[in-house]
Amino acid sequence: MPAIAVVGAQFGDEGKGKVSHYLAQRAHMVVRTQGGNNAGHTVVVGGKIFRVHIVPSGVLYPQCKSVIGNGVVVDPKVLLEEIDYLGSEGIDTSRLILSDRAHLIMPYHRLLDGLDEDRRGLRRIGTTRRGIGPAYMDKNARLGIRVADLLDPEGLRNLIDENVALKNDLLQKVYGQEPLSAPEIYEEYLGYAERLRPYVADTARLVNDAIDAGERVLFEGAQGSLLDVDHGTYPYVTSSHPIAGGVTIGSGVGPTKIDKVVGVLKAYTSRVGDGPFPTELLNEQGDAIRERGKEYGTTTGRPRRIGWVDGVLLGYAARINGMTHLAINSVDVLAGFETIKIAVAYELDGRRIEDPPANLRDFGRCKPIYEEMEGWGELGTPAHRNEIPRALEAYVQRIEEITHAKAAVISVGRDQGETIYVEELFTEANV
Ligand code: IMO
Ligand code: MG
Repeated sequence: MPAIAVVGAQFGDEGKGKVSHYLAQRAHMVVRTQGGNNAGHTVVVGGKIFRVHIVPSGVLYPQCKSVIGNGVVVDPKVLLEEIDYLGSEGIDTSRLILSDRAHLIMPYHRLLDGLDEDRRGLRRIGTTRRGIGPAYMDKNARLGIRVADLLDPEGLRNLIDENVALKNDLLQKVYGQEPLSAPEIYEEYLGYAERLRPYVADTARLVNDAIDAGERVLFEGAQGSLLDVDHGTYPYVTSSHPIAGGVTIGSGVGPTKIDKVVGVLKAYTSRVGDGPFPTELLNEQGDAIRERGKEYGTTTGRPRRIGWVDGVLLGYAARINGMTHLAINSVDVLAGFETIKIAVAYELDGRRIEDPPANLRDFGRCKPIYEEMEGWGELGTPAHRNEIPRALEAYVQRIEEITHAKAAVISVGRDQGETIYVEELFTEANV
């Protein structure tokens, strides 16, 4: 039953793409289960950079099926552009499978995402404006349009007519915008339907069958645990469940079938978008990390906010995911720093607390209590954990203590070659 979930342990952009791509080498199937093209996954292979937002990283391997699960919200325009981009790079996308139950991002979702952000003004979320939130709103309001509807021209027309009438009310009466044309959207989406039809299937059946047959299945996370709509820093979150629990809902696979949960983190923290960030570094040190780590958004190009690792949030993330393993990325970015800090608790109104408060105003007042650790120098390209500097080993052990999880991957550079694989995660397979 070799199924592994890879999840972001922080606020997204932890390097899940690199870790998933590595694990995908030995996988039969890679599955995305939530989010949409708000994700930006960068994979560097032999110096060549691939950027994907919606297609799982398994697509880069000929033996691997790539599945976009039912929990993902799919912008068909973006998906087709990505299929074309990968094709032009010589990547075969014929093994891509799209769930018939996935919800579609529609033009009015993108529009409303931006309008809602502007209306919020200073209280904006800092979304990627890709229509993710509005698409999940419609899904939960039971108004959404799914991939299966896209393939049913008659049904699609009715759903688009109904939705556009509702959205036009909102656009005109609340936002003072021009109305959208239902027939135009219908024509546009009919075109997408023809191109996407060959990819569509009941993916829950396929993923369960693969696991039951003993194939190695990898669930590739998007976003991060602290952006989870239930467990993250609400309301400064995304509208899906990036934690391991989201994998079961977003793929139709039961929790008993997932044997390992790998939390991906960086040796520092980044956050793009608004919301609390107790360990944020608003100084030259933060700027230095941003430049060395090339911390600019893959999806939106925004400079990312930078801070130290927050052990309070990391311990929390480990708990809500049931993390068994860790992938620690970007330790090279901190090389040469004399000291490295980890927050181990917060001070809130004179009290020491060890869990993040639910109330956001309390969260905003939390001051990190730091532990200082010795920094490490240049790393070279160590192949084994016993070749890393002593100070880095101490750091890795401290993170393992905080999370009660075991480091399986330590990344000393962006390229796939610059990685230490401490433990082989895909050990079993019956095929
Ligand atoms: P990957 O998969 C980093 C953030 C946005 C915003 C909040 C809500 O690359 O780690 P949304 O558009 O989802 O409604 O925005 O979530 N966000 C991400 N931040 N990496 C991501 O994905 C993100 N996806 C969403 O910046 O703060
Ligand atoms: Mg990102």
